[in-house]
Amino acid sequence: MRRKILFFTLIATFSIVNCQLLTGQTTATLHADQGQQIIPKEIYGQFAEHLGSCIYGGLWVGENSDIPNTNGYRTDVLNALKALKVPVLRWPGGCFADEYHWMDGIGPKENRPKMVNNNWGGTIEDNSFGTNEFLNLCELLGSEPYISGNVGSGTVEEMAKWVEYMTSEGDSPMARLRRQNGRDHAWKVKYFGVGNESWGCGGSMRPEYYSDIYRRYSTYCRNYDGNRLFKIASGASDYDYNWTKVLMENVGRRMDGISLHYYTVLGWNGSKGSATNFTDEDFYWTLGKCREIETVIQRHIAIMDFYDPGKNVALMLDEWGTWWDVEPGTNPGHLFQQNSLRDAFVASLTFDIFHKYTDRLKMANIAQVVNVLQSMILTNGKQMTLTPTYHVFRMYNVHQDATYLPLDIQAATQEVRDRRTIPMLSGTASRDQQGKVHISLSNVDLKQAQEVTINLQGMNAKKVTGEILTSANISDHNTFDKPEQVKPTTFSGATINGNTLTVKLPAKSIVTLELQ
Ligand code: AHR
Repeated sequence: MRRKILFFTLIATFSIVNCQLLTGQTTATLHADQGQQIIPKEIYGQFAEHLGSCIYGGLWVGENSDIPNTNGYRTDVLNALKALKVPVLRWPGGCFADEYHWMDGIGPKENRPKMVNNNWGGTIEDNSFGTNEFLNLCELLGSEPYISGNVGSGTVEEMAKWVEYMTSEGDSPMARLRRQNGRDHAWKVKYFGVGNESWGCGGSMRPEYYSDIYRRYSTYCRNYDGNRLFKIASGASDYDYNWTKVLMENVGRRMDGISLHYYTVLGWNGSKGSATNFTDEDFYWTLGKCREIETVIQRHIAIMDFYDPGKNVALMLDEWGTWWDVEPGTNPGHLFQQNSLRDAFVASLTFDIFHKYTDRLKMANIAQVVNVLQSMILTNGKQMTLTPTYHVFRMYNVHQDATYLPLDIQAATQEVRDRRTIPMLSGTASRDQQGKVHISLSNVDLKQAQEVTINLQGMNAKKVTGEILTSANISDHNTFDKPEQVKPTTFSGATINGNTLTVKLPAKSIVTLELQ
């Protein structure tokens, strides 16, 4: 018995010592008195493309499906997205947009022609989800629609008529057509993309040529009956700074926004790596690549600042997120990938960066909302699971339309593959319209807990509550059989003493705190 007690005492002592050894100390300052910029809720935007099972099976099952639905939209997905507060939803692509002919997707479903989805696995598209179905979905979700127009293979007339169909209230030909299709009043459509990836799948154009094409197409995208379009030019792929330069020079203020695409991806040829089977080194590489978005944003913004110091043209990061190998056994053209706690970190670290640049960055859309790339939700027939990325979007939605508060973190750093350096702690803060301050912190260290001491400048708080997202392994993810393997729980590791907030963050954890 005595030997047993000695054994357990030794184990307990070792664990405590070990735990202390494995706790890093980090300090930070929250400048609660320096809030100026509003974090536009649109940077929490989503993207839904006709790709794999994003639309069909993911968002839309049709009224006659045995999957519970609301006018054809999956009720489970609808409810999950409502809880997420999706501010803006981009559709119908992506690459699909430049082969999409909107007139094929209106009117009685039995009369709608089919097409081949050439970009995404050669799947037959039956056009049963079209303009009316998309815009009605946005109304149900309370999301602003963001339409991507077809420049690559569509005509100016086709694009002009689409805008008229959606937004004209009067007795115009397209408004009449809309009424024939059961919708009396026009929808409000704010965001309109004039092409997508026009340097690639959207027409393989040079920036000089696309600049003129943009000028031509956008001329005929009219503002009908009080609807004011916010026109977005197809922008650069990550490091292509020349594209931004040429468009700023040649298009300038004719565009309200210019887009940018940046994926956390391991090169475009060959294997991109498994979504769930990866090493610790792969994890840190991922964070390095994800964080490089900051340099990319800075450099595009510097070019924009040169041509547009008044910041009239917005930067719209309308595709971002992780891109892994598809799940084994699934169609390679359908981009169906799992989503682990690693992806959750990509989301939290990316938002921490986005929040700093919102004087220029006015929208971002993660790719994509359901069943494609870094999605919020995965579905399989009647089954559905929320991903770790969903949980970060939900935990971070307190920052939507809140005032950005600078948070200076003095964190240890680590060198990672490809000569990048990452800080072991990332964070962001804001004050909402009710005066509540929210702080989000990510401890990316896979082994070590961190005690973070935050000096709260310019505020008094008495109470702190929080939520935490973590799991035993960084590759943990949710499956249809185990949908709650990774989910947020209540966090009680934070205390306030005067102006000092102390937060004990376990290894590989993401926390959002509320201070009142
Ligand atoms: O999000 C998937 C694809 O990635 C989009 O269709 C395209 O715009 C980008 O290359």
